[in-house]
Amino acid sequence: MIKSWTKEFDAEAISHHYDLSNEFYQQFLCENMLYTCAYYRDPEGDLAQAQMDKMDLVCRKLRLSPGEEYLDIGCGWGSLAIWAAKNYGVKATGVTLSIEQAKWGQEWVRREGLGDRCQIYHKDYRDLPEGQTYRKISAIGIIEHIGIANYAFYFGWVHNRLREGGLFLNHGITHTKFWKWTSQWEFLRRYIFPNGEMDNLSHIMDIIEREHWEILDVENLRLHYARTCHQWYDNLERNAGRIKEIVGERTYRIYRLWLVNSAECFYSGSLGLYQVLLQKHKIVREHHLPSTREDIYAPFFFGGD
Ligand SMILES: C[S@@+](CC[C@H](N)C(=O)[O-])C[C@H]1O[C@@H](n2cnc3c(N)ncnc32)[C@H](O)[C@@H]1O
Repeated sequence: MIKSWTKEFDAEAISHHYDLSNEFYQQFLCENMLYTCAYYRDPEGDLAQAQMDKMDLVCRKLRLSPGEEYLDIGCGWGSLAIWAAKNYGVKATGVTLSIEQAKWGQEWVRREGLGDRCQIYHKDYRDLPEGQTYRKISAIGIIEHIGIANYAFYFGWVHNRLREGGLFLNHGITHTKFWKWTSQWEFLRRYIFPNGEMDNLSHIMDIIEREHWEILDVENLRLHYARTCHQWYDNLERNAGRIKEIVGERTYRIYRLWLVNSAECFYSGSLGLYQVLLQKHKIVREHHLPSTREDIYAPFFFGGD
């Protein structure tokens, strides 16, 4: 049985994984340093483009606009917060529990000259100041670390931090409703994510509704994640020599096994990936957002093609 998700346990679990070595992660993630499912507009496309398209997809689903206060919870190396500040003009805040990621993100913000509209913090999201609220919030790949027993707290916490009419995009891994404990999960907990836990979508949606959200949109990106893991694996193999120098043979083998297994779980459907777009509002009788999804897919934001 997993230990309970205290702040101390989470800090330890996150550090175990994400503080391993930034240089190691550089070897198999693309140059955007994104560590979540990419969005392949071209099913045969490359990882770097698909990660940029994923960031645009998130920004556009959130209908980000200049000057808005925007929070990215579990911001990794800061990629999305920086992208949103740079390309959508928002005032972005990113928060990560990994000190190595935060240092990387802060240096990246400095290099981009975005210090006036993008801040990256090394913090537990639960320790962000009480009274601070946002127009838009995203959480890309953090729900896997929250613990099922804490989902109500998590969705409630975000609800409290959003202003009326604000949007929240949650992007996360699910497992099938018929999930059972296996040695694969034992491996995952022991070597990869000590606080990793996934749930099925319908249970997550039930909690979301109980926490008073309106569900605006749900998108399944399962096969996008299969390809992402596959491409991370290819990069790991291509750079195996350097990776072994950085983290050693044992860690290289652990990640190799994990990435192959993850790709297979997404291909076979035992794992899923959903983006869920939520709105906080008292009942409104007229659209205050675009009335269809068409604006999300208009070409302009994807570089004018
Ligand atoms: C899979 S990574 C995703 C990073 C990034 N969103 C991306 O798309 O590449 C999960 C992130 O969640 C962060 N995280 C996990 N638990 C957290 C917590 N309690 N508070 C803040 N960040 C947390 C980790 O530090 C890490 O940055």
